[in-house]
Amino acid sequence: MSTTSHLPWWKEAVIYQVYPRSFADTNGDGIGDLPGLIGQLDYLKALGVDALWLSPIYPSPMCDAGYDICDYTNVDPLFGNLADLDHLISEAHNRGLKLLMDFVPNHTSDQHPWFIESRSSRNNPRRDWYIWRDQPNNWRASIEGGSAWAWDDRSQQYYLHFFLPEQPDLNWHNPQVVEAMHQVLRFWLDRGVDGFRIDVVHCVGKDPTFADDPRCMAGETMVQINDQPYSHEVLRGLRRLVDHYPGDRVLIGEVNIRSTVQVAAYYGASDELHMSFNFPPLDAPWDPVVFRLCIRETENCLGAQSAWPTWALSNHDNSRIRSRYGGSLLRAHAAAVMLLTLRGTPFIFQGDELALEDTQVTTQTRVDPGGRDGSRAPLPWKTHTPHGWTGKAPWLPFPPDSTVLSVEAQEAANDSTLSLYRRLLICRRESEALRIGEWEELPSHPQLLAYRRHCTSDERIVCINFGEVEHTFPLAGQWVTEITSDRQGEDQRFDGTIAAEQAVILRPERIEHDQ
Ligand code: GLC
Repeated sequence: MSTTSHLPWWKEAVIYQVYPRSFADTNGDGIGDLPGLIGQLDYLKALGVDALWLSPIYPSPMCDAGYDICDYTNVDPLFGNLADLDHLISEAHNRGLKLLMDFVPNHTSDQHPWFIESRSSRNNPRRDWYIWRDQPNNWRASIEGGSAWAWDDRSQQYYLHFFLPEQPDLNWHNPQVVEAMHQVLRFWLDRGVDGFRIDVVHCVGKDPTFADDPRCMAGETMVQINDQPYSHEVLRGLRRLVDHYPGDRVLIGEVNIRSTVQVAAYYGASDELHMSFNFPPLDAPWDPVVFRLCIRETENCLGAQSAWPTWALSNHDNSRIRSRYGGSLLRAHAAAVMLLTLRGTPFIFQGDELALEDTQVTTQTRVDPGGRDGSRAPLPWKTHTPHGWTGKAPWLPFPPDSTVLSVEAQEAANDSTLSLYRRLLICRRESEALRIGEWEELPSHPQLLAYRRHCTSDERIVCINFGEVEHTFPLAGQWVTEITSDRQGEDQRFDGTIAAEQAVILRPERIEHDQ
């Protein structure tokens, strides 16, 4: 029996974020759909990931690409229907892949029947499901900026929206809202989903005094700073609900506060989130000093309370890995080695396994009011245009170099980014030290980041060279390069040097003798 069999699956998993609009299209409308995703599950299985997080697929006016939901328990016709979703769950499960949905508790669409009722009159029974005030305070909204309050002419009050005015915030202090949202979770859990990524979960509790926040005067938005005790109470309720289901269903929160100490609090006493996203590494430039600090901070804040870390270097709200690190393929490859060898659960954003860069939009092709289109571009499946997207042109332009970066081109090349990700995921699966071992920083040249992952029976060393020249990394004992980010010197005895912007995974030579 494996020594790790008692661990919940998500601690050893690698999770892949699917942005359904841009994944794969089957009906020729230029927008990815659920049948398209089902058709590519074998690609994801071959990549070697363990679970998928599906960005929102619910009915929506799409003011915020589906994060403005008008029916929590259905599928938008753009993506398919409920039967497609059931089919996706079973086809994923047949392949041993878990499926996580995106749960958006902080706000609905202004087209949600609850809000339509709420705004219809001050006496409506659902009035208090949202947050209405006679006077606004100074809170600021995200995406377009400006006040977080919108005036409703008909009922002559302001309603609160931390994001677009089309996304009114729910009032989680009302027990009926809590119960309605619990029903939403039960609906999906009963259908077999394995958990949820919870959108901006730190926003659900609001300061009951509605005092002005001085940080908003300095231009910050509520999403960056909202951090109320009541959000923790809400989370404890969600956790109790989810823990009633068998199979280690998981809650992963988007706690978008840029402080790992504050993020750590959202794990509670193992009675809130199972895992939280942690954004400082995603914000970090390509700089070993910054990464060293982020990783130490994560180890200190989360390790101390046995909260399991997560690692993500990009997502649909931020520039892609390669674009943020100066367009360099070498850096994108070295970053992949780091992402997949730190202690915790890594998240791969679709297309990073192809080293895609952000797409360029113009005033004509721009879609997102928040300017986040870059990373959301369609995946190029085939070498030749339209890259497997037949029918209408896709909703956003393809990323640069889609011909050479297409899945088809990369499957044919054994030095491609896709091949590196596949090899890294195999390496991780086969090494207990990489999956669940301890993390220990090793002394090294300031341009290097070096660490050891170890458990009783297994050990790896990882070294990443952030610099533009070769550096030495002397080690006692004999080590074999299991993976190098540029494929140079793989499966050879490690010679103590790390090439410019190269990352290596080393295993002790004795393991080979023992086998
Ligand atoms: C989260 C989502 C983002 C969305 C926002 C509002 O940050 O990741 O895409 O705009 O919440 O739902």
